[in-house]
Amino acid sequence: MYNLTDRNIVLCVTGSIAVYKAVDLASKLTQAGAVLNVIMTPEATKFVAPITFQSVSGRCPYWDMWDANSNLAEAHIALARQAEVLVIAPATATIVARLALGLAEEMVSLTALATRAPLIVCPAMDSQMFEHPATQEHLTTLRNRGVQIVGPEDGRLASGQMGRGRLSEVETIIGWIRHVLGRGGDLAGKKVVVTGGGTHEPIDPVRFVGNNSSGKMGFAVAEAARDRGADVVLVSGPSVLPDPVAVEVLRVRRAAEMRDAVVAACVGADALIMAAAVADYQPAETVGEKIKRRQSETLSIPLVPTPDILAEVGVRPGLVKVGFAAESRDLLANAQQKIEDKQLDLIVANDITASDAGFAADNNRVVILDSAGGRAELPLMSKYDVAWHILDKVATLLAASKLQPEA
Ligand code: CTP
Repeated sequence: MYNLTDRNIVLCVTGSIAVYKAVDLASKLTQAGAVLNVIMTPEATKFVAPITFQSVSGRCPYWDMWDANSNLAEAHIALARQAEVLVIAPATATIVARLALGLAEEMVSLTALATRAPLIVCPAMDSQMFEHPATQEHLTTLRNRGVQIVGPEDGRLASGQMGRGRLSEVETIIGWIRHVLGRGGDLAGKKVVVTGGGTHEPIDPVRFVGNNSSGKMGFAVAEAARDRGADVVLVSGPSVLPDPVAVEVLRVRRAAEMRDAVVAACVGADALIMAAAVADYQPAETVGEKIKRRQSETLSIPLVPTPDILAEVGVRPGLVKVGFAAESRDLLANAQQKIEDKQLDLIVANDITASDAGFAADNNRVVILDSAGGRAELPLMSKYDVAWHILDKVATLLAASKLQPEA
């Protein structure tokens, strides 16, 4: 959704067994609302028939330059002009060499030479071919020309061997497409610090005080801010989620580490969005040895408050501060109180008793309150969509603060 909707994307597919993954990529981009045109090399059509791409994208792919019956003789020029981004996935060693040398031998390399749109190249080949100095030199040439090279990844290759050469995951490629399309968005030139996940406060070497936060909300905010052009620093507590692409990710464990990372990252930042579920208490001390079980004794662990990160960052002109309030009762009153206590511009409140939203779910149902008394109640939606709504308000506040005369 959002920064893929109605965007003109050209997906170029070349002759690797990984073509089958490009079908999934084409399908996901189309479902996200992109206007997707597919160009195939003749070799690619030997792995997967063009009609497969037609079925998932709703448009007939281009592959035959020499079809005299086609009115698409100039198609590569038209596609090259329309494209907002050109993605070559999978990219074979041959296409990488053609791009580096500027050879235009079939519709993919022709279009790549004709376009001025940003280029994303996702190599997929045997590891020996990838490591060959010729391929490496060509990739360096492309990188120096500003081409975004994505992957390849380590793993099992078509040969059955393990090595580096696998096409990057479809979600990773989509992340790069979103990032490239987001450059120049309404948060371009802004530094946005986001926190996500819970914190773990260690009791002993194997136990901790923590909570159920998955990190999904904070990661979605980081991705959405990236997709609007921001430079994003994501400070994350322990989470199994992979690093979002094109985001600086700082992994921390304890609230105190998160505080240090956030305070440092906020230097020069335009917005801080604290989606992390920071543990409120930490053990007064961490025991160095694993605590042994004693059947006849109860165990008490003294807890002391963790640092209040939002409060410690303080108020600075030009820094928009957004908090989250996960509440089980008196949602609005508690959230309103937190705006004042933590001196926030916005707070995103959600009711954690709902079973279809909140912690660990993919969706969230929130109310966004602002310090001027405004309130926006959003229906159930994906966390990425929630993030987009939050950032609409952050962007408005940033634009308004720019209009204000310096104090
Ligand atoms: N927060 C923080 N530092 C803490 C605890 C919370 O910066 N030590 C931030 C959270 O990231 C969130 C906001 O403060 O953005 C509100 O968190 P919440 O846990 O709802 O509020 P608390 O201040 O902990 O109050 P309570 O637990 O009593 O509701």
